[in-house]
Amino acid sequence: MAKARLDKIIANQFNVSRKDARIGIKQGKATVNGATIRDFSLIVDTENEITFGGQAMDYKEYIYILMNKPKGVLSATNDKSQKTVVDLVPSRWRRLGLFPVGRLDKDTTGLLIITDDGDFAHKAIAPNKNIYKTYEVTLDGAVTEEMVEAFKNGVTLADGTLCKKAILTPISENKAEIKISEGKYHQIKRMFGTVGLGVDELKRTALGGLKLPQDLATGGCRLLSDNEISLIFTSC
Ligand code: URA
Repeated sequence: MAKARLDKIIANQFNVSRKDARIGIKQGKATVNGATIRDFSLIVDTENEITFGGQAMDYKEYIYILMNKPKGVLSATNDKSQKTVVDLVPSRWRRLGLFPVGRLDKDTTGLLIITDDGDFAHKAIAPNKNIYKTYEVTLDGAVTEEMVEAFKNGVTLADGTLCKKAILTPISENKAEIKISEGKYHQIKRMFGTVGLGVDELKRTALGGLKLPQDLATGGCRLLSDNEISLIFTSC
């Protein structure tokens, strides 16, 4: 386990600023293995029993939150005027450095991971990792076999950008499942734009082998288990 300064551990794990952690520690609000510690620069092993303001620490080096993103919320860490997905994270899981893994448009719903682990995020969404993201899409017209073929061969967007192979599977006349392994800006909307269709609804239903749980309400969050995290890196 990690060793770090007490103020750093408390700021990180209890979602307070470093300054407030120091003030609290000096006021006697922190204990390590039952003893009150007022020296905020003390180097402490995170395996110790640490409390702050009477609350016990449940140490996690990184946090991985699964969200069922609702419509109307930005996939960003913070914004001056609009609500972001990080604003929706319950306070017990908030900490400095949280960010969404990849972006869903404001009107897109579904599976979104929020974490503070940059290496994990890179592995999960970098295009060269070939991890497929699955979406359910509702269109303003019918999906044809020609479109399925065109997407399989990689479509070229209006600005000349070539997309990698995408797997398009019709569900009903104007609904389909689409799997892509990249995350270009508005990619799915722009891909359907090349075949003359508009996207009415878009929902991400899986990342790699991790599916959006049916029982996670829109706007709801929960922590991912280690097993669920490893599912992301299996094929869907
Ligand atoms: N493609 C889009 O067009 N929008 C999203 O939110 C995700 C993929």
